Amino acid sequence: MARINDNFLKLKAGYLFPEIARRVTAFNEANPEAAKRLIRCGIGDVTEPLPEACRKAMHDAVDELGDASTFKGYGPEQGYAFLREAIVENQYAGLGIAADEVFISDGSKCDTGNILDIFGHDNVIAITDPVYPVYVDTNVMAGNTGDADEKGAFAGLVYLPCTPENGFVPAIPDRKVDLVYLCYPNNPTGATATRAQLEAWVAYARANKAIIFYDAAYEAFIQDPALPRSIFEIEGARECAMEFRSFSKNGGFTGVRCAYIVIPKTLKGYSADGSEQAIHPLWSRRHSTKFNGASYPVQKGAAAVFSEEGKKQVAALIEGYMGNAKLLREACTAAGLPVFGGVNAPYVWVGCPDGLSSWDMFDKMLHEANVVITPGSGFGAAGEGYFRISAFNTRANVEEVCRRIRSTFG
Ligand code: MLT
Repeated sequence: MARINDNFLKLKAGYLFPEIARRVTAFNEANPEAAKRLIRCGIGDVTEPLPEACRKAMHDAVDELGDASTFKGYGPEQGYAFLREAIVENQYAGLGIAADEVFISDGSKCDTGNILDIFGHDNVIAITDPVYPVYVDTNVMAGNTGDADEKGAFAGLVYLPCTPENGFVPAIPDRKVDLVYLCYPNNPTGATATRAQLEAWVAYARANKAIIFYDAAYEAFIQDPALPRSIFEIEGARECAMEFRSFSKNGGFTGVRCAYIVIPKTLKGYSADGSEQAIHPLWSRRHSTKFNGASYPVQKGAAAVFSEEGKKQVAALIEGYMGNAKLLREACTAAGLPVFGGVNAPYVWVGCPDGLSSWDMFDKMLHEANVVITPGSGFGAAGEGYFRISAFNTRANVEEVCRRIRSTFG
């Protein structure tokens, strides 16, 4: 008898975005005319073409693979030195990070889930609420939680409420936790954390021998120079944090796939007998056992993000998406809705009108405005009563979405 991993049975519904896709498909089939004017601002998927510098680097890399004298087979599992060095030089200069502390992968979604392989099952795990659902679901799959209650909250997880009152940055817990997920700029609320807030988290983590999983996938969207872009800007973070970053949203690599984790060699965890263990070699072992590296052309394309041309092209992409965020913020504000985020992040987090629930709002936007948004409750109980609009779209689509928001709620 083949036994399954029963933890999967605890997962309530499908993963949020497939669930949205399922509802949208059903709507399209039932309303073929409206389907033609549907605009998707749900999943945060980029719409603009890859930067030219990245495309050229990938073409050249494919040509190298087509020539016997430059052909490459398996690459280093942790990533090619040229990319790891470019990351350190361009993203972590002066922060004490070495190139061999960077592990290249095919995505931050995979990384934030896979990292649990090297941690025990008896950790107290804290997540923000609302939260990127991958952090929760992967812990459920790994057996790190109990069952979900009627609101979808899993026993065993410590939920840290993020509300307008705390600026969507959670208060430091009044109890001991071992692992904590923080994501800033935040998905889904678009909020950012200040230096002082991150300092408080680093102090808490060090005092409690906890580890912070810092997801900085949206770092490139920060406009305010006073905001920290990396947890490693905070003194002491090398002893208590790892950072997840991605090329998906800055370089537009959602379909190309390339990301990385930075794990300082000074980051420690504890074995069952209480002895201190470095995290870096554990992840290195895990990564090289279960992963054969991102492809050479992809890594070449990613490195081109840091070329002079690449930097300019990425800056133009970010400027375009942040211009969209501004328009969406203005349209929602003009419609009298409470608006958050969208200033240093590509997500606009909006309060639902007239006491509508998040899924009611999803249906209203789908049926009346023919716009797909993401229901806030899909990100956790504290997301109820909100919805998220993604600024990843063409300018023409965003302008049309703004018109429809005005006419639906104006
Ligand atoms: C989102 O819409 O939350 C993101 O696109 C999800 C992701 O990056 O995996």
